[in-house]
Amino acid sequence: MPWTLYKSPTVRIGLRFLSNTRKSVSVVGSGPSGFYTVCRLLAKSEVPLNVTLWEKLPVPFGLSRYGVAPDHPEVKNCEDTFSRCAQEFGASSGARHTFKFMGNVSIGKDLKLRDLLDTQDAVILSYGCSGDHKLGIPGEDSTSGVFTSREFVSWYNGHPEFAGENDKLTSFPWSKVRNVGIIGNGNVALDIARVLLSNNIPQLWSSTDINPVALKALNQAPIETVKMIARRDFSHSKFTNKEFRELWELERYGIQGIIKSEFFKLEDLDMENADRVFKRRVEMISEYSLPFNQRTKKNYKKHHPPESGPTKTWEMDYLKTPLAINSNSQGDLESLTLCRNSLSPSSRVEQHSSETLTYNVDVLITSLGYGSSPLHEFGPLQIGFVKNRVANANGHVLDTNGGIVPGLYASGWIRKGSSGVIASTMSDAFEVADAVMADLESGSPPKARELKTQGLNYTTWEDWEIIDKEEKRRGMQHSKPRQKFLSVSEMLSFVKK
Ligand SMILES: Cc1cc2nc3c(=O)[nH]c(=O)nc-3n(C[C@H](O)[C@H](O)[C@H](O)COP(=O)(O)OP(=O)(O)OC[C@H]3O[C@@H](n4cnc5c(N)ncnc54)[C@H](O)[C@@H]3O)c2cc1C
Ligand SMILES: NC(=O)c1ccc[n+]([C@@H]2O[C@H](COP(=O)([O-])OP(=O)(O)OC[C@H]3O[C@@H](n4cnc5c(N)ncnc54)[C@H](OP(=O)(O)O)[C@@H]3O)[C@@H](O)[C@H]2O)c1
Repeated sequence: MPWTLYKSPTVRIGLRFLSNTRKSVSVVGSGPSGFYTVCRLLAKSEVPLNVTLWEKLPVPFGLSRYGVAPDHPEVKNCEDTFSRCAQEFGASSGARHTFKFMGNVSIGKDLKLRDLLDTQDAVILSYGCSGDHKLGIPGEDSTSGVFTSREFVSWYNGHPEFAGENDKLTSFPWSKVRNVGIIGNGNVALDIARVLLSNNIPQLWSSTDINPVALKALNQAPIETVKMIARRDFSHSKFTNKEFRELWELERYGIQGIIKSEFFKLEDLDMENADRVFKRRVEMISEYSLPFNQRTKKNYKKHHPPESGPTKTWEMDYLKTPLAINSNSQGDLESLTLCRNSLSPSSRVEQHSSETLTYNVDVLITSLGYGSSPLHEFGPLQIGFVKNRVANANGHVLDTNGGIVPGLYASGWIRKGSSGVIASTMSDAFEVADAVMADLESGSPPKARELKTQGLNYTTWEDWEIIDKEEKRRGMQHSKPRQKFLSVSEMLSFVKK
């Protein structure tokens, strides 16, 4: 969405605020929620503001940069919006508000949240979910070859905490990997399946910014099957149709999709009451499961699969719960034990623990959503943290007794948990920014205490622009949009910090 769309024609210069005294706002985390919060504040606040965006990495954009799949560059267009907003309000631009990016500063570690609360008129927590959910079954943490979706995605996206030559994913013996199991069937599971199955097709990946170290490692894997294993049934699949279609469309490269008839019986589905999205999903499976020449709709006959037949398959597997991860004497993954499930009339998962089965897998990826954690200071500050998110009421952060913490807000995944696309994260950020502005307009005078930033080795927006330019230059040499720096030290030494 172009930046101009955020600039409401109703932005007015409130004369009562035309003083030199601005209110200060700090936003913690520069992913989509943090940046959309910033953009909304800068576009709409009647109160003149000094806005600071804190980010633990030297570079901005969170999961837009390090989560969104490299072959979905159009999704990253939000970064252009954020950049225009940063440039327009940069400290030296003379604009009504000021904007500062402070990268390489982890709030709670390098700078205390307490200090932000003491000095800022508003603090918005937008630090997302940078942890893992766990199955909690034997072998999950101790077996070589078991990775979480966050580890795997961060690795192929070149996140500096995961992308180095010594990372466990880079040094993993990919040349032995034929069969992969993925637990979960959300869109992240589908992204991972697509990367695993198609990474050796140069036309799909060579012009993306995928981490070349990861691509080289994955290229060695003679992958034959990827099975996405869900605890519920087909009608409760978590993925969306666009991403599902992308997998089916890999058939032109000899990558075939399978859904066993026991999990997909047209006669069992309530099509009369189904919505459009579900009907399209059913149509997709019905058509793609037919031999190419027997398909009835043009939409499913775009590219003929190779005459030689499929070389790889992906499978949607349903109604199973993992019970144990089994390894050999060296601790290497060998297989996964599961039990069959059924769904109760109220769609509750009922495990049949006596009906077990075993899948031989060389790699297992748990794709259960991203987990989050409280900052260390939440305890002493008595800030509530409930069910994987900051306790809040409409974005106002709550203390452990349920009272509102004055001047503290939360937006994005840390507010709502790890669900939602960039568009819904934007709406959430706007809602929170509007609540912040309402409080700033009616609230007390600006806080007088100054925030001390001495001793912080921070990156500025200008530093990011230098890194960005260099990444694009390096990428251009290989016809790619960019080649990311893979370590924090390399980023910092490039901008001489
Ligand atoms: C693998 C994956 C693929 C996705 N693909 C798509 C897609 O194709 N399309 C789509 O619309 N949506 C996609 N999404 C969803 C989208 O990425 C999220 O909706 C969005 O990124 C959430 O934004 P956020 O700002 O809340 O969190 P994040 O993007 O995670 O941003 C949080 C930021 O806070 C920083 N941070 C963390 N701790 C601290 C701290 N202590 N101090 C300072 N900074 C901190 C982090 O480094 C990060 O930059 C995807 C999500 C994932 C996981
Ligand atoms: N292209 C895109 O637009 C795109 C790409 C990637 C991500 N995203 C978005 O990012 C968000 C996060 O995606 P995600 O795939 O990480 O999460 P998700 O959509 O929440 O999917 C998580 C999956 O893990 C399963 N699961 C969770 N806990 C489990 C357990 N203990 N045992 C077995 N299975 C378990 C869930 O099953 P149940 O359904 O049974 O709970 C579900 O299948 C989503 O909103 C997604 O749409 C969007």
